[in-house]
Amino acid sequence: MDLMTAIKNRRSIRKYKLDPVPDDLLEELLESARWAPSWANTQCREFIIVKDKTIKEQLVETLTEWNPARPAMREVPVVIVACAKLKRAGFRKGEVITDKGDWFMFDTALALQNLTLTAYSLGLGTVHVGAFDAKEAGKILNVPDYVAVVELMPVGYPAEEPNPPLRKELSTFVYRDKYGATIDSSI
Ligand SMILES: Cc1cc2nc3c(=O)[nH]c(=O)nc-3n(C[C@H](O)[C@H](O)[C@H](O)COP(=O)(O)O)c2cc1C
Repeated sequence: MDLMTAIKNRRSIRKYKLDPVPDDLLEELLESARWAPSWANTQCREFIIVKDKTIKEQLVETLTEWNPARPAMREVPVVIVACAKLKRAGFRKGEVITDKGDWFMFDTALALQNLTLTAYSLGLGTVHVGAFDAKEAGKILNVPDYVAVVELMPVGYPAEEPNPPLRKELSTFVYRDKYGATIDSSI
């Protein structure tokens, strides 16, 4: 599949079929995450594959009440929990070396972007779930305190084809030479 097609047509999926996700496809998703770039190749991201019904049910309870992904978390065959080892990305000899602190969110997001696009190319649906109690999820999953639970990601076969939410026009967020100097027709 052409990369731009995947980038533009991937959608957040919040309704899933009950069909299981074959393990070889799951492995391909994780392989694509493995090859994502990371700070000085430190690869701080880690993943927990949750298929157990009871654990999934417990994880649903960590989502905010209003979270539209709640039903999806229940019905989906697999939830990939993205974690990250802290104090790796953006650190040298244990010291933070940029004004942005720990880059773990950034590196984990890069891996998840690979994963979501690969999932789409394989006919699978995903949704990023960030609105949840990460500490509580960490307790459920025995995550040690030097590791952050970054995101929950349901994965399964889509049972809906959502319309794409609008994106801002380039002219509203791309500037020429200095911040605020908007581009008109050509870059
Ligand atoms: C970091 C992050 C956290 C998100 N958290 C949630 C969430 O908790 N629940 C949910 O239903 N969608 C969540 N989303 C999905 C966004 O709402 C969705 O990506 C956005 O509306 C654009 O839609 P699209 O993914 O179909 O293009 C999250 C997306 C990102 C990138």
